[in-house]
Amino acid sequence: MKSIPELHDIIEKELSLLNYPSNPKNLYQPIKYVLDIGGKRMRPILMLLSHQLFCSEINKSFKSALAIEVFHNFTLLHDDIMDDAPLRRGSKTVHKKWDVNTAILSGDTMLLQSYELISQLEDKNLREVLDVFNKAAREVCEGQQWDMDFENRKDVTILDYLKMIEYKTSVLLAAALKIGAINAGASKEETDNIYQFGVNLGIAFQLKDDLLDAFGNPENFGKQVGGDILSKKKTYLYLKALQNANSVQLQSLLICFSSDNNENNIDKVKSIFLELGIPKLTLDLMNEYYDKAMFHLDAIESNNKEPLVLFAKQLKERIN
Ligand code: IPE
Ligand code: IPE
Ligand code: MG
Ligand code: MG
Ligand code: MG
Repeated sequence: MKSIPELHDIIEKELSLLNYPSNPKNLYQPIKYVLDIGGKRMRPILMLLSHQLFCSEINKSFKSALAIEVFHNFTLLHDDIMDDAPLRRGSKTVHKKWDVNTAILSGDTMLLQSYELISQLEDKNLREVLDVFNKAAREVCEGQQWDMDFENRKDVTILDYLKMIEYKTSVLLAAALKIGAINAGASKEETDNIYQFGVNLGIAFQLKDDLLDAFGNPENFGKQVGGDILSKKKTYLYLKALQNANSVQLQSLLICFSSDNNENNIDKVKSIFLELGIPKLTLDLMNEYYDKAMFHLDAIESNNKEPLVLFAKQLKERIN
């Protein structure tokens, strides 16, 4: 059974073996750049952790693990354009370091590369894995569209938000786990449970990410703190604050989230969040989803759960 640091090293090594042509350099350099500036490698690690729940020959999942990490990084290039984000992993985003067109095309190339990697899977599992991958990829796009649509809507509910984050974030974690289980020859019941574990863990993960977006330490977080407030994202923090606000707080929140938003509003909104105890409420909901995730993991029989349980715990406690 491999530990989390061992799996992390495997992923880094495999990623470093990916070769890119030297030309056109403005197409391939941004790809190398984004893969080199770090990242938690959470999705490929989850895939390998899931694989080793059922079988120790985890090398059978290496190509799909790389595919999912490259795919994830493709979504980041495009997401950072959509969110007008200046920082990623403590470094400049690709569209700021190069330009928007470059980030679009390098992202497209990474999407294609993720399929080249997946297609190297053994024939036995290829169709099933592709179906899982394609479904997740399409749902990520649907989630991203809702995320952007919600910026301009005033009637977003907490249920809408939860559905949106399930699609933009959780399904890819869940797919990573499911693909690892398929590659390992797990049963349908097992792959279903590991998928549901991932969906709930992913929702917990995104709730924490939205909390860190407002209250994280800029030194560790690696992204622009307050970016969601600037973009008027309808996060749980904001929606719960609307629900619990008194009339003065409500007016203030609505004004900050109306048309002329600017950096001064970040502190104003954060102080209302604090007055209303929003960080604790967000962590409470995160813990509910974490517990749901664990319920599905408990339903799986394996002697190799320990590193996966530890990894899930670390995600709950993370600061970046
Ligand atoms: C960022 O994902 C996008 C979200 C779904 C919040 P990660 O937090 O996994 O980003 P990296 O890969 O570790 O940088
Ligand atoms: C990103 O959600 C989800 C995808 C990249 C598909 P966010 O926009 O919240 O992620 P960050 O905060 O930029 O990492
Ligand atoms: Mg973003
Ligand atoms: Mg986004
Ligand atoms: Mg975010």
